[in-house]
Amino acid sequence: MKSKITSCNKIYLRKANQNDVDFLTEMKNDLGLQELLMCHQKNHSQLEIKEWIEKYESSKDSFLLVVCESNQKAVGYFSVQRFLSHHKTAYFGIAIHPDFQGLGYGKTALFSFFEWANKELGLRKVLLEVASSNQRAITIYKKAGFREVGILMKHFFTNHIYQDAVLMEKDIS
Ligand SMILES: CC(C)(COP(=O)(O)OP(=O)(O)OC[C@H]1O[C@@H](n2cnc3c(N)ncnc32)[C@H](O)[C@@H]1OP(=O)(O)O)[C@@H](O)C(=O)NCCC(=O)NCCS
Repeated sequence: MKSKITSCNKIYLRKANQNDVDFLTEMKNDLGLQELLMCHQKNHSQLEIKEWIEKYESSKDSFLLVVCESNQKAVGYFSVQRFLSHHKTAYFGIAIHPDFQGLGYGKTALFSFFEWANKELGLRKVLLEVASSNQRAITIYKKAGFREVGILMKHFFTNHIYQDAVLMEKDIS
């Protein structure tokens, strides 16, 4: 059984690279997880994931970060989208591998992400969209200081219907 993250069990964030193909293919092919992320639920080949990582590597306004334990084991990832340097804002999504959920990794990773976003991108505010049915994530975001700023009606298509998403934001400067 996996144990809760402790202060000696630190995590860190780094940009994704081609060594992460196996881990990210596993995460992207977890269709239940991708549904929670409001992503298109389909199986991806390793080549598609390789190209997905490359797209982020060459982008100036989106980033893919891997959440690692101190022993370098990958436990999750962040995708950062719509980075606007002028406004100092960006959207993001987070996914922790199912084997590591509920152990404190998400909460710890969120605070590392705020630090990274502030230091590396100079962000003053981060935003996210979360499925209105994903109460677990909404609770976690509220605990981390996010405020709910709107509902995007019938915003994403999953399980044959359009579902609402909640728009949330947090000042991090
Ligand atoms: C949402 C997610 C990132 C949270 O990460 P996690 O590592 O599982 O969460 P943590 O263990 O750090 O828990 C953070 C807080 O939420 C609480 N929590 C954990 N599981 C919970 C649950 N099922 N319901 C309600 N609260 C829960 C914890 O008690 C903790 O609160 P505390 O700080 O007061 O103790 C992760 O579960 C995940 O990747 N889920 C699937 C993808 C997803 O939904 N992403 C967000 C979509 S935008």
